[in-house]
Amino acid sequence: MSFPLIFGCMALGGPWDRSEITSTQFDAAHTAVRAAHRAGFELFDHADIYAVGKSEAVFGRILAEDPELRRGIRLQTKCGIRLPGNTGPEGSPVHYRLDRDTIRASLEGSLQRLGVDSVERLILHRPDPLTTLGEAAQALDDLRSEGLINSVGLSNMTLRHVAAFQQVLSTPLTAVQIQMSLAHRDFVETQVLGNQSEGTEYNFPEGLLTHCVADEIEVQAWGAMANGIYSGRGAPEGDPTAEATSGVVTRLAERMNVSREAVVVGWLLRHPYAIRPVVGTTNPERIRACTQAPEAAAHMTHSDWYELWTAARGHALP
Ligand SMILES: NC(=O)c1ccc[n+]([C@@H]2O[C@H](COP(=O)([O-])OP(=O)(O)OC[C@H]3O[C@@H](n4cnc5c(N)ncnc54)[C@H](OP(=O)(O)O)[C@@H]3O)[C@@H](O)[C@H]2O)c1
Repeated sequence: MSFPLIFGCMALGGPWDRSEITSTQFDAAHTAVRAAHRAGFELFDHADIYAVGKSEAVFGRILAEDPELRRGIRLQTKCGIRLPGNTGPEGSPVHYRLDRDTIRASLEGSLQRLGVDSVERLILHRPDPLTTLGEAAQALDDLRSEGLINSVGLSNMTLRHVAAFQQVLSTPLTAVQIQMSLAHRDFVETQVLGNQSEGTEYNFPEGLLTHCVADEIEVQAWGAMANGIYSGRGAPEGDPTAEATSGVVTRLAERMNVSREAVVVGWLLRHPYAIRPVVGTTNPERIRACTQAPEAAAHMTHSDWYELWTAARGHALP
């Protein structure tokens, strides 16, 4: 596989409001993107809603000012979430829209902000129960036939969505993006707690991962750094489980001679389903630290992996 990590661009471009991008915000974003490019990241993850479009806008400006960064990179973006005062009207509820016009308008806006003619992949950010899959699929197929996207991804969706979209899409469905991390472990908890009452605390679309693997659909994990709570940010106040997990992460990182970030992200890479972690740090040091994740995964024993899992869940497996 090429470089397995994906660079999450959600935190580029400043606050989620309509303020101008300041030169400090631009410089910070430029430094982060350059660090990611140098570290080997190839795929950059965007969405129309990130920083009210400013994440894409700042990225587009960076590519324009520093064309060297275009070399070897691929972009994916997302559409479909409508937030008030962002992609949705002020005063509207948070809602999802995957109708033909919304998908097209969102992608056109993203391409314009990013300053590119096409993206590798357009991801539907969340399901919209009010739009038929057929309508959304037709919109995506049209975009592909116009050369604006190469493929489609689905985010925060179930196996039923994936299978149904595969039926109606002509465009290849190449990725699924969903929350998975040492802090958000439902994907493994549901695998082992099937007949345990504790299992009701967890929720992950049954069969999704095995289906993706069988159909060669890439599985992307968002929130892969667990927001830093096990790798130096500090555990939330009064959370002994997170503190204990940080201790295990630190001990394993020292033994493997890798960063703590690498252990947290490597825990996902150690899973046999070729999960691709989407990491959201903009800190150049932490960006470089994440790149040791494949090394951490390679050195992580079966027992290490379970020790991390057990520490994060706070009590032993049944
Ligand atoms: N599909 C979806 O619905 C969805 C939802 C959310 C996110 N995403 C994607 O996934 C990417 C990653 O998600 P995420 O950013 O929510 O989660 P993440 O990668 O788990 O966490 C990144 C955040 O944790 C902070 N952090 C990490 N280590 C730290 C440390 N040692 N000390 C202090 N802060 C630390 C980072 O701050 P620094 O920048 O200071 O390091 C950053 O704010 C996003 O950029 C986006 O592309 C997708």
